[in-house]
Amino acid sequence: MRTQIGIVGAGPAGLMLSHLLHLQGIESVVLEKHSRRYVEERVRAGVLDQGTVDLMLTTGVGRRMKELGLVHYGIELRFLNSGHRIDFKDLTGGLGITIYAQQEVVKDLTNARLAAGGQVFFEVGDVSLHDLDSQRPKIRYGGDGDASELQCDFIAGCDGSHGICRSSIPNGVLTIFERDYPFGWLGILAEAPPSSDELIYAYHERGFALLSMRSPTLSRLYLQCRRDEDINEWSDDKIWTELQRRLAAKKRTLVEGPIIQKGVTGMRSFVAEPMQYGRLFLAGDSAHIVPPTGAKGLNLAVADVRVLSAALGDFYASGDSDLLNKYSEVCLRRVWKAQRFSWWMTSMLHRFDDNGTYDRRRQLAELDYVTSSRAAATTLAENYVGLPIDPICVEHERKYQERSPR
Ligand code: APR
Ligand code: PHB
Repeated sequence: MRTQIGIVGAGPAGLMLSHLLHLQGIESVVLEKHSRRYVEERVRAGVLDQGTVDLMLTTGVGRRMKELGLVHYGIELRFLNSGHRIDFKDLTGGLGITIYAQQEVVKDLTNARLAAGGQVFFEVGDVSLHDLDSQRPKIRYGGDGDASELQCDFIAGCDGSHGICRSSIPNGVLTIFERDYPFGWLGILAEAPPSSDELIYAYHERGFALLSMRSPTLSRLYLQCRRDEDINEWSDDKIWTELQRRLAAKKRTLVEGPIIQKGVTGMRSFVAEPMQYGRLFLAGDSAHIVPPTGAKGLNLAVADVRVLSAALGDFYASGDSDLLNKYSEVCLRRVWKAQRFSWWMTSMLHRFDDNGTYDRRRQLAELDYVTSSRAAATTLAENYVGLPIDPICVEHERKYQERSPR
């Protein structure tokens, strides 16, 4: 089999890339290890920043998001039992975020690709990459006497943090930058109406808590916990009691309901540089991870593939490899700013084991500053709604959107 772009992974990065390439008339094949049902049901991130929302709308995959997504123009920071709103609309000149689950984005993109005759293959095992430093890289998959080969012009490694693409790059090429945090998040999905119209990030002496949501009847909540926390030690009652404590505010309690999903995730910051090797380009979680406190993981994955699709578009339109050569450099500027923001939100809001009195006072001063200085609040707001998309992408997308207006 032959294609122009071989894409490993049908998460937001792989599917959005395939969609953006299709809009420019570039063919791709997406190979996904799990079943369609599994990727469409996996509970992951839920905040789309303004750049991601706009891209979904302008490229024709935003209809359900517009119908079902919850548009928010602010968040609350809660500490010392009182809430302080960060008003995104006012601070950023009208921008906001949309609460819409990652698996819904995945459903919309999968449907769009399949409806357009796109090739997305699920349950593909034993994927391996070959000849990455040649003009004809290949993907082999499906072992045990049933092996196939996909010959490509380029390969996009969109296979998440545990994929095989990053590790297919020879030793010594990549430099890894990482930081582990001494805690994790215990997350739940509960059949309960959200207890607040907007997200609440709570700083508490017992640890961080976050109130989020998925719909008017479904709440998503998180508690800071140990990295190796045993979820079996957390009964529903214990979870709700702890959430009530940490999200406490004057005269307010959380609406409780049946917990329908729960799990623990570790917190990590990670960047692999460069994000390319020969004809392989890494995008999304395969190249970088952020702790979820800034809600940037999904949005960064989408921003990467915008750059990659523009670079591949240039290559096929005019044979110009300039942007392809600069892919990693262009992406990393945004990636590192998102790393900085996610690290900053995490360190401002969590309890650290060595939280002595000095650090606690400093965190409270930081929260006081962010919620009382317009300059500081603007810094949070503009990062949360998403820093401007690289002009290279905006210009490129405008060209092909003009050719096929939606
Ligand atoms: N072969 C084929 N597919 C693979 C392989 C493999 N060897 N390894 C992993 N995959 C698939 C996974 O099953 C998954 O569906 O690649 C996909 C990667 O998707 P994501 O992990 O969602 O990564 P990405 O598309 O980069 O999106 C980043 O995911 O975890 C969140 O916070 C993160 O929201 C962000 C988003
Ligand atoms: C979520 O709704 O899952 C969510 C929201 C905000 C975050 C992280 C996760 O910072």
